[in-house]
Amino acid sequence: MSPEVRKAAEILRAGGLVAFPTETVYGLGADAASENAVARLYAVKRRPAEHPVIVHFGEAEKAFSWAREVPGGARELAKRFWPGPLTLILKRSALAKDFVTGGQDTVGLRVPSHPVAQALLDEFGGAIAAPSANRFGLVSPTTAAHVREDLGKDVDLVLEGGPSEIGIESTIVDLSGAAPVLLRPGHISREALQSVVGAIAEPTVASPRHSGGLERHYAPRTPARLVPTHALDKEISKSKNVAVLAFSRPDERVNFWLRMPREPQAYAQRLYAALRELDAAGCERILVEAPPESAEWAAVRDRLKRACEPRRNIA
Ligand code: TXA
Ligand code: MG
Repeated sequence: MSPEVRKAAEILRAGGLVAFPTETVYGLGADAASENAVARLYAVKRRPAEHPVIVHFGEAEKAFSWAREVPGGARELAKRFWPGPLTLILKRSALAKDFVTGGQDTVGLRVPSHPVAQALLDEFGGAIAAPSANRFGLVSPTTAAHVREDLGKDVDLVLEGGPSEIGIESTIVDLSGAAPVLLRPGHISREALQSVVGAIAEPTVASPRHSGGLERHYAPRTPARLVPTHALDKEISKSKNVAVLAFSRPDERVNFWLRMPREPQAYAQRLYAALRELDAAGCERILVEAPPESAEWAAVRDRLKRACEPRRNIA
């Protein structure tokens, strides 16, 4: 066990905040059983109190002890995808207090696979409440440096774990109702989930609250627009000071151009760092070339749509 991880577990036990790497994005962790620690987490995150937070565990059995009903489908998904980038929403047990569930009767459970996250969970022994380690509504961090830029001294320790391999937040499936519902698309696709539990429904207005579901989320500060490939050239010629995220080669009229991979997993891994770079370029607008409409791009499209929502829609 590394001394850093031991120190991190001590900080969590003392009610402090530790940012740690996961395979999706970096999380801002607090002892999920401590009301004070979670209150501090929400304050640093500037997250509204009624928004629930995902609770992280070292293994499935511990995770399921926070649920009062574990349907067969949840066990099958856990067996197939945990540890890994999947969050399950289940009816909560008495261990999941209002301060982690936002007062809802369900709880979000996740067993991450990143070795540093696993080591921390193992050393701490308990459950770690962890949203992404950024301020509410902004782009999630995929490196320790991003976390330090965003949260500075507000976090007691940042564990280093290299760039997050997947790059976008976990897939969230709600199994607390009659049929499974996909609340947030991610690396584990709808098709992969369906191959294990059968049909999965779209969220409805009755689905539980989740801040990833706010219209504008995961957003840069610079106004951003999604542009279909055929309209990119015209959009570029209309504007002076733009930063562009695209699949094609840089256009010489544009000062700041980031070229993205044509493969969805590689694109996702690069996405949040790219949005930060575009934001930092100091341009008036960001233009994002829209990715293909196919199923394998669903998670990336979801994040880009939210990043490109007009600011007035922020909740
Ligand atoms: O990949 C991830 O899931 C990352 C890493 C750190 O594990 N965490 C993450 O957490 O994205 P956060 O808090 O930024 O987003 C969690 C999403 C939010 O939209 C939250 O509201 C939702 O999960 N959520 C948590 N508990 C829920 C519940 N009981 N019902 C519905 N949504 C829930
Ligand atoms: Mg987040």
